[in-house]
Amino acid sequence: MIRSLAALTLSTLAISACTASLAPSPKASGAYLFDKHCTSCHGRTAEGDGPLASGFAIPPANLTLIAQRNGGTFPTAGVMAQINGYTGRHQLGGMPEFEEVIQSPLVDWASPSGEVIPTPQSLLALATYLESIQQ
Ligand code: HEC
Repeated sequence: MIRSLAALTLSTLAISACTASLAPSPKASGAYLFDKHCTSCHGRTAEGDGPLASGFAIPPANLTLIAQRNGGTFPTAGVMAQINGYTGRHQLGGMPEFEEVIQSPLVDWASPSGEVIPTPQSLLALATYLESIQQ
């Protein structure tokens, strides 16, 4: 019994390892999505200096300083909410909603409070990428 359980666990691990190698890493796919949808305003380096940036009353944020502005912690949930448009602040500030971009299969995201929240894969990938470029 114990032996077959171990075998089952191992084969599950092998399967997930395969899946992982086929799918791009969240950071890589986040970088791709960022490049495609966000650089026009936030700039290639995410510092808020994209070609459209000067047209905004509230300028596109420097996205490499999110953690710094938040006392050193990257607020993943808040960032995802902002990209998704939950906050409603986007319409005021000119940041578009990206509902279509982030429509993707749900994956489990474990929030810092330990809650597991089904989250669109692309949204999580964007947040993961942004977290990786914090200064
Ligand atoms: C059409 C221009 C535009 C595009 C494209 C755009 N943004 Fe923004 N974004 C803004 C503006 C303007 C602000 C600042 C005002 C506000 O928060 O509404 C902002 C703010 C943000 C913030 C809040 C930062 C903070 O510190 O509070 C995040 C996160 C963000 N954008 C992420 C993204 C991501 C990720 C993408 C691509 C999926 C994206 N933005 C595409 C204009 C844009």
